[in-house]
Amino acid sequence: MENFKEILINITYLVASFLFIFGIKRMSSPATAKNGNLISGIGMLLAIVVTLMDRHIISYELIIAGLVIGSAIGAVLAYKVQMTAMPQMVGLLNGFGGGASALVGMAEYYHVSLLGFPDDGGKFLVSVGLSLLIGAVTFTGSLIAFGKLQGIVTGKVVKIPGQNVVVILLILAIFTLIGLGISQPDNMLFFELVVGLSLLLGVLLVMPIGGADMPVAISLLNSYSGIAGSATGFVIDNNMLIIAGALVGASGIILTNIMCKAMNRSIMNVLLGGWANVADTGAGDSSAADKVVKSVDTEEAAMLFSGASKVMIVPGYGMAVSQAQHAVKELMNVLEKNGTDVRFAIHPVAGRMPGHMNILLAESNVPYDKLFPLDEINDDFKNVDISLVIGANDVVNPAARNNPQSTIYGMPILNVDYSKTVIVVKRSMNAGYAGIENDLFYMDNTLMYFGDAKDAISKLVNELKAMNS
Ligand code: TAP
Repeated sequence: MENFKEILINITYLVASFLFIFGIKRMSSPATAKNGNLISGIGMLLAIVVTLMDRHIISYELIIAGLVIGSAIGAVLAYKVQMTAMPQMVGLLNGFGGGASALVGMAEYYHVSLLGFPDDGGKFLVSVGLSLLIGAVTFTGSLIAFGKLQGIVTGKVVKIPGQNVVVILLILAIFTLIGLGISQPDNMLFFELVVGLSLLLGVLLVMPIGGADMPVAISLLNSYSGIAGSATGFVIDNNMLIIAGALVGASGIILTNIMCKAMNRSIMNVLLGGWANVADTGAGDSSAADKVVKSVDTEEAAMLFSGASKVMIVPGYGMAVSQAQHAVKELMNVLEKNGTDVRFAIHPVAGRMPGHMNILLAESNVPYDKLFPLDEINDDFKNVDISLVIGANDVVNPAARNNPQSTIYGMPILNVDYSKTVIVVKRSMNAGYAGIENDLFYMDNTLMYFGDAKDAISKLVNELKAMNS
């Protein structure tokens, strides 16, 4: 009977793993992402139900209490958090994942120590050491990342004297302690010190990462939380946790790599806070003095659009803030009705989280085949009559291409300045996330259309409708 139960559990875990992988595969396209999420969710439900039926479960009361409290907090957070605050929410959740892994690792270590360590307990103790190290680093690192994105902790680069040497010594000390813990498992102090030093390491690793690099840091921490979960899976001998953790670890690393490429940064550079160092001085970034800005009102903008045959819409963070996506969709409809060709150019780090613009535009039912990623569309701007930049700033800043002294030099940008006319919708001349001036706004072919994005685009739509009627 026990044997049968074991087989049933492992088969269900296999099915759940298959559902996870299939779900992730479907998440790779916006058209199937929602369904992919549901499929992975079903996999997770199966895994949880079967784990609860497993013989290791002692007290259902505690599990139910945890489930109710956790779900209530999760539901309130998910409903309340703004789309623009999603990165810090993800950061916080990564931290809890890492913290949970470290707690389970430590609890299982204490538990086994009561029963007496088996002679061949090496694999168990190595797994405990790794789950404590990675889990604790992820916990404090993610809390700092959350604090930086939320504005509770400074977004600037903060380094202690001799930062890199201290970090290397700390890592060596942690591995030495893990080694001692493995050779003398009855002395609990070693693994307890591993937890303490790893918590400190998490803080020291994330404090030097500047605000602009935080998205990369968050996705790296997401990967760590998966690896910590996987290590804990080895500690408690649970295949499902090993597989699920490995999937999170691997997908987090892939996302980190994609984002590094999008920002033209290496992971080492992000971890060592190189770019952010330059950002501190702001050397080479231009200032607004003595430059002329041309602006248009709604009527003039509508006139220009009515004469354009190719329009490229470039959305950014401001479209998300003002929730202008529905007005933007309406603009697309009006322009297309007029015979204008309308496409969208999407920068990989536009907004504040990966896929931010895609999600918003999908919400307002802009067809996916109108959305083009940077590398596919960048050569086409020279054929565009009007590039309409809506609340985007850094991702269209030519300094990234032209000015080696600029803090964002090297980041691939959308070449909107190559189009015949650029119309920029934003409220003021204020800087974007990187905090630097944008020469695009002063170029001969650029016109500023000042206003809140939703408001400005709605007015433009009404004006175009009035002209057409
Ligand atoms: P930003 O460079 O941040 O610029 C956004 C612009 O939107 C601002 O200059 C602001 O100008 C304008 N804006 C704000 N509220 C508005 C409103 N209600 N109506 C109209 N405009 C409004 O945005 P971006 O070009 O999308 O670039 C994204 C930046 O965020 C990059 O530096 C990227 O590295 C960073 N980042 C990205 C991510 C991910 S993964 N996407 C995560 C974290 C950080 P006004 O104040 O003048 O209106």
